Amino acid sequence: MMVPSGVAHLQGQVALVTGAARGQGRAHCRALAAAGADVVALDVCEDGEVPAYPLGRLEELQALTEEIEATDRRCLHVVADVRDHGAIRDAMVQVEAAFGRLDIVVNNAAIVTSAPFWELLPDEWHAVIATNLTGPWHVAREAAPMIRRSPHGRIVNIASTAGRRAVANFSHYVAAKHGVIGLTRAMAIELAPDEVTVNAILPGAVDSPMLAGLARELGLTTDDVLETFMHDQLFEVVLTPGEITSALLWLLSDAARHVTGHCLSVDGGSLAH
Ligand SMILES: NC(=O)c1ccc[n+]([C@@H]2O[C@H](COP(=O)([O-])OP(=O)(O)OC[C@H]3O[C@@H](n4cnc5c(N)ncnc54)[C@H](O)[C@@H]3O)[C@@H](O)[C@H]2O)c1
Repeated sequence: MMVPSGVAHLQGQVALVTGAARGQGRAHCRALAAAGADVVALDVCEDGEVPAYPLGRLEELQALTEEIEATDRRCLHVVADVRDHGAIRDAMVQVEAAFGRLDIVVNNAAIVTSAPFWELLPDEWHAVIATNLTGPWHVAREAAPMIRRSPHGRIVNIASTAGRRAVANFSHYVAAKHGVIGLTRAMAIELAPDEVTVNAILPGAVDSPMLAGLARELGLTTDDVLETFMHDQLFEVVLTPGEITSALLWLLSDAARHVTGHCLSVDGGSLAH
């Protein structure tokens, strides 16, 4: 009996990652290229009013592109805001022109702020919902024609354990991540006839600039913030971006070709409670 490989062999495929300049998105891009894919690394590369912490930088995105191209894989970097439907439509035109195909979408870009719901400002609410929930829909919507043509079409949405349970002082983030899980399941149903899988990964506390930025906003140390998120993990460890990447690569492997509409928690066991 042939056992399908759990290792992703992505030669000849093209993968797009949002929020690619740093953190988990950067780790995903590197690993996708190492697995043989050409990469579209998309990031906004611009700070806004929300969040107060700085976002990814153009220099980071360019350095990633150079690093991947040095390995003989192609990498197209695109500066675009996932909140902007027109910009995402234009990004897909660029992808189609550069590669003529798109096989994998990783909806990873997101932001976070923190306050009780009665103190959240409307701008904060709208920025988090637009980035974390509407953004993945914009990207999936505009990628759909190419993804549906792909013989290997896969969409992976990076949600959060906050997509499965509530956390105080993050109502906008919790609402957006619950929404991402609903979107994942609805898209899985609609794309199944095209043999496209759509899944979500639910990370626990991951060492990344997002957590460091949030800590600064709250006047806490990164360790304080990690402790807040780690207190109910069965393994009290801070996850590395690479651990999320490993789950992503499995979802892109042949072994997972019939896994769809699924939420894969990589959270040190916090959702076991
Ligand atoms: N870090 C954690 O502990 C943690 C926990 C659970 C889930 N997550 C999720 O993991 C994913 C990656 O987070 P991270 O920790 O690497 O964050 P990060 O802040 O380090 O990286 C996010 C990237 O997204 C980009 N981005 C933000 N807004 C954008 C927009 N409008 N358009 C395009 N790009 C934009 C930023 O510039 C940045 O490069 C997110 O979906 C996040 O919600 C993170």
